[in-house]
Order: sequence, then structure tokens, then C-alpha cells
Amino acid sequence: PRAHIVLDKQAVIAPVRRRTFGSFVEHLGRCVYSGIYEPEHPTANEDGFRMDVVELVRELGSTTVRYPGGNFVSGFRWEDSIGPRERRPVRRDLAWHALESNQVGLDEFARWLTLTGSELMLAVNLGTRGILPALDLLEYANHPSGTTLSDLRIANGTPDPHNVRMWCLGNEMDGPWQAGFMTADDYGKLAARTAAAMKTADSDLELVVCGSSGSTMPTFGDWERTVLEHSYDHVDYISCHAYYQEHDGDLGSFLASALDMDYFIDTVIATADHVGHKKRSTKKIDISFDEWNVWYLKEHQESDEVNEEWRHAPRQLEDVYTVADAVVVGNLLMTLLKRSDRVASASLAQLVNVIAPIMTEPGGPAWRQTTFHPFSITSRLAAGEVIRPTIDAPTSTTARHGEAAVIDAVATVDEDRAAVFLVNRDLAQVTQATIDVRSLGSTRVLEAITLADSDVYAKNTLAEPHRVVPATNTSATLSDHVLTVDLPPVSWTAIALG
Ligand code: AHR
Repeated sequence: PRAHIVLDKQAVIAPVRRRTFGSFVEHLGRCVYSGIYEPEHPTANEDGFRMDVVELVRELGSTTVRYPGGNFVSGFRWEDSIGPRERRPVRRDLAWHALESNQVGLDEFARWLTLTGSELMLAVNLGTRGILPALDLLEYANHPSGTTLSDLRIANGTPDPHNVRMWCLGNEMDGPWQAGFMTADDYGKLAARTAAAMKTADSDLELVVCGSSGSTMPTFGDWERTVLEHSYDHVDYISCHAYYQEHDGDLGSFLASALDMDYFIDTVIATADHVGHKKRSTKKIDISFDEWNVWYLKEHQESDEVNEEWRHAPRQLEDVYTVADAVVVGNLLMTLLKRSDRVASASLAQLVNVIAPIMTEPGGPAWRQTTFHPFSITSRLAAGEVIRPTIDAPTSTTARHGEAAVIDAVATVDEDRAAVFLVNRDLAQVTQATIDVRSLGSTRVLEAITLADSDVYAKNTLAEPHRVVPATNTSATLSDHVLTVDLPPVSWTAIALG
């Protein structure tokens, strides 16, 4: 098969937003403990953070990091995790049925973020707590000095305020699994009051109200409408969460998961704009897609991996990703880029060990999962403005998502560089793509990288950490303003042009 793509530098969607390349660290399983933090590890720094993991996070190119949950945050008392470590309490984390030692808290995590060069995005507990603890956390985190809580932060060794800009008003409050989950009406009122109070302290805060935990939630749509009817004037973003997996061997549908993400974004934007119109508001609510990934959730739910005992940092949700998973992750990231007009921020969930691009072994190495590669390469190459390609490609019918083009693409254009990102969702055939780049003025291929494998279920593991790596795509050529490239079946490709 063949596909023809035209890139027009006038077809600008929006600037590339660096926050699109965000990620997520939750106190869950081994994400924090023996993930980013392991004081006994040979590479640990004076704070106990693994520097081999820091290096990989930097290479991943993740920007804003959401913290500390997730479901965890709905049972969390932030005061437990500050001050002298030996005095911090051990608590039960009901969300993940584990013990939380609180050895890593806000101040340590903020120091870790300076090592990785990332921005902190903080979630407050609106499941089992309310407005006052959220305001206290805001004072502790952001007030310069001269108040009890800011002086406490200073006494705890953090003289400068953390100056956190983005705040999540709870987590997945529509989900029955969430400690303290609520109706949309109850949550909308609580979120509005919390947001209004937080903005009294600092009107420039960027506040994220909880949207739906997924597009298949029974309340999806109504939830967004009701929550925003209460909170529209006080918040800045509404969250989306989406996880995808292959169901019952239906690889075709799985590869087309980006169609659902696109539908999800469309629907949330339509709903938010509808509420805005009703309120005669000139303000727009954008999306914080603050959890997205491939997650073999069905298998976890069906397995009997119940943690009978209360353990600290057990191995939980340690999905090992395949080539096909990496192609889907690459495609989902392309979709987020394409929607940069209304998706202000996104977080790959999560960062280390727990459904993550980076894995670690206690006392041992850290390595890149297959999904690491499309994320890291896109974060490195996407710059300037996102442009909408015109794509003429064959389609195939998928059971879950209907007709899907076998080729998807997005491009970014900067002053003297451009980048094109492509997926071939065909299960068996190479597709030759011809890409008209005349409008970009590009004259040469700087790099062309493809992730593919004859075994689409190949994985990277502790025993074989480099089994799947991206390779130079030697078929990419540019002549007479036409870029030609062969895209293997089930593949993800990035091409940088100069
Ligand atoms: O990322 C794992 C979990 O998925 C998060 O804790 C929760 O918010 C979502 O359901």
C-alpha cells in the first residue's frame, strides 16, 4: 500500500506545548521506593535518589510531573511527609493496600525534580479531606516566608518556595474505587469552593478539575457538564484519563486506540464549550490529559494478585511493554500533539516501574521499556508549531473504533527544522509514504528513526534490556521536495528535516 501526505506550514494547529510531555509519579508499588528512591543503591545521591534513573528521566524528556497520586492522594495527609524523616509516620495506603513510609515527600520530590529538570504538578486530597488542608499545603509549598507553614518549610531545609503552578483538585472523583468518591454535583461544588479559596491566595494558579476517569464511564459527558457548571469560573483545565490495551487478541483495534483518545478530547471540549456558552463566558477551559498510557488493566483486575499482607512498596502494575504497545504510545502522543490547540498538558502514567517507560531492579540496573523510545524521541524532536497534515491513506475496519486509516501522522515546524511523526497501523504490510514537504522548504533528512520488529510482541526485560531499540530507517530520502519512506507493519517513525 501507499499513502500520500501533504505538509503545509500554514496549516498551524498551535505551538508545541512542552507540558504535553509530562509524566506522573505516584506513591504506588515501586514507582517511588526502589524506583526513583533507593538510598542503598550504588548510584544514590545524598538524598537517596538513584542517579541512573535521573539520567533516564532526562533522556526521556519528560517535563511536568504530576505527584503524589493518583488514587493514593485520596487517602494522603501531606503533613506526614515533611520534616525529619525519623519522625514521619507509617500509614496504610488503602488505595493500593500497601504501607507508606513517607520517607519521600514534597520537599525531597521537589529536589528530585531539579535533578531531572522538570516542573511539579501537585494534587490535593479532595476524597477524604477538604478545603483547609489544601490551603495549608498551598501555604507550605508556595508562600515565601513569615507564616507558620512557610517558616516550617524553611526550617525543614527548603528556603525558597516551590512555586507550584498547576494543581489537581483531587483525583478521579467519579470513580467508585476512589476513597470518598462523589456525585458530579457534590464534587463540582467542592471543587469550585476549593478553587475559589486557593485563588484567593494566588489568582495565577492553574487549577485542574477532575473530568472522567475514562470515556467508557457511565457518567462520561454528564459528569463534565455538571462539574463545570459549578466550577467553570474558578478552574482552568479539566482532566481526562485514558488507558488502552489489546483485548482478546484484537491487535487491529488496539493499534487504532488513538481514535478513542481523539473522540474523548472532542467530546470534553464540546461539553466544556457548551457550558461556557451557557455562562456567556469568554474564557475557555482546556484539557489536562493527566493520565494516559497502555495498561493491561483487565489482566490485573482478573488476576488474584491481592496483597493480603500490608507491605511497603510491593511489585504492583509492573506491565512489560511490547513493540505494539510502543507504537500505540507513539500514536497517542501524536494525537495529544495534534490537539495542542486545546490539550494544554498531559502526563504519561506513570514514570518508573508502575506502568512505566523506565524499569529498575533493586540494587541493580535501570532500563528503557519499548514505550520509552517514541516518547523520548518525540519530546526531543517536536518543536515550534504543530501543523495538520493532509493524509490520503488506505483504511481498515476495526471492531472497536470503526474505519481507521492505516497511516497516521503529525508534523512540527520550527525556524530551520521540521519533524514528521508517523505510524503504520497495518498488521502485515509495508506502506510506502510520500510526503510533500515543498511548503516547509526542507532540503535534507537529518535523521529517520523507526521502531518496529518482526515480533510485534517483543519486549525489553532485565535479562534482555536492549531487545527492542529504534533503528535508522535507511529508506527515507528527500528529493524534489518529496520525502519518501517505507513504513514497516506495526511501526512508529520519526523523521527530522533540515
Ligand atoms: O495510574 C494508575 C491509577 O490509574 C491512578 O492511581 C488512578 O488515578 C488511575 O485509576
